[in-house]
Amino acid sequence: MKEIVVSGIRSTGNLHLGNYFGAMKNFLKMQHDYQCFFFIADYHSLTTHPTPADLHNNVKQVLVEYLACGLDPEAATLYVQSDLPEIAELYLLLNMNAYVGELERCTSFKEKIRKQPDNINAGLLTYPTLMAADILIHRAQKVPVGKDQEQHLEMARTFGNRFNRIYACELFPEPYAFNYGTSLVKIPGLDGSGKMGKSEGEGNAIFLADEPDVIRKKVMRAVTDAGPTQLQQEKPDVIKNLFLLMEAVSAPDTIAHFDDQYNAMTIRYGDLKKQLAEDVILFTAPLREKIKELSGDDAFIHKVAAHGAEKARESARKTVAEARHAIGIRHF
Ligand code: TYM
Repeated sequence: MKEIVVSGIRSTGNLHLGNYFGAMKNFLKMQHDYQCFFFIADYHSLTTHPTPADLHNNVKQVLVEYLACGLDPEAATLYVQSDLPEIAELYLLLNMNAYVGELERCTSFKEKIRKQPDNINAGLLTYPTLMAADILIHRAQKVPVGKDQEQHLEMARTFGNRFNRIYACELFPEPYAFNYGTSLVKIPGLDGSGKMGKSEGEGNAIFLADEPDVIRKKVMRAVTDAGPTQLQQEKPDVIKNLFLLMEAVSAPDTIAHFDDQYNAMTIRYGDLKKQLAEDVILFTAPLREKIKELSGDDAFIHKVAAHGAEKARESARKTVAEARHAIGIRHF
């Protein structure tokens, strides 16, 4: 039996380089070695209150981008989260044993309180329970995600273990965050904030679908400092960020070249940014083309979503039936 893998990306807009290197890169490798379930987290995106038209377009866009990146709907099960009402049911069941205190202590929730004090809804508070339901619904062991999701995985293990203990069963295995490299990935943004993200503000994220001119503009505006003041000095975070982005898309000798220049204090950030922009453009060009090509193929997109939902529901139904039985929800 192949190990089970589950992961998803929220449908809040186009995929960016953080999503690609934190999650998608592993999805692509894993799809051939494991039993994979990759979904589009549209329930999760509802916390930001999208309009119906935006929600629908974003789900389609992310599915197109999944396929454009190279996910194979025959190898992996690709589906839209809301096509599985079983996830909503498991979320409800898990919420009964999820405590407000532990949910309030979650770092991502505290961050949301700070960033969007006007919209602290219950969906945000219970975001980790919904995410646990996504993972536990297929009884996954491995979850390819970026570094920012580590705490959510810990909570998924807590909720799964708690369920097993309370209802004296062994329904859920422990899911762990997974990356083929040694540690989980964090791709920095261009605004010096440390993390590339859709909600981090204009110009912070480079999207896979961005046109070359847009990429050049964004990269040239990336935050830097006044330059090194000593030979061989340690790089401050904003400069480390640019080098980290280069590590994702540039050749090793290109990175070594700018690293040497930094150490020798001869670096010109403009040159580094120009090179970085061109390397990003080169990397994203084939994806961008494929995105354009697939965007017009509604029949194919529909077929993939319907086929994925059917396969995913089969697995989800079994888990929910067992969870109901364990809890004592039984037919008369
Ligand atoms: P989301 O949409 O914020 O991000 C999707 C995936 O991309 C990774 N990621 C990053 N990795 C490295 N550097 C970055 N700057 C960066 N930005 C995003 C995220 O770690 C994630 O792997 N809660 C999840 C979606 C989700 C999910 C799940 C994931 C819902 N249910 C169940 C796994 C399993 C999220 O916020 O994704």
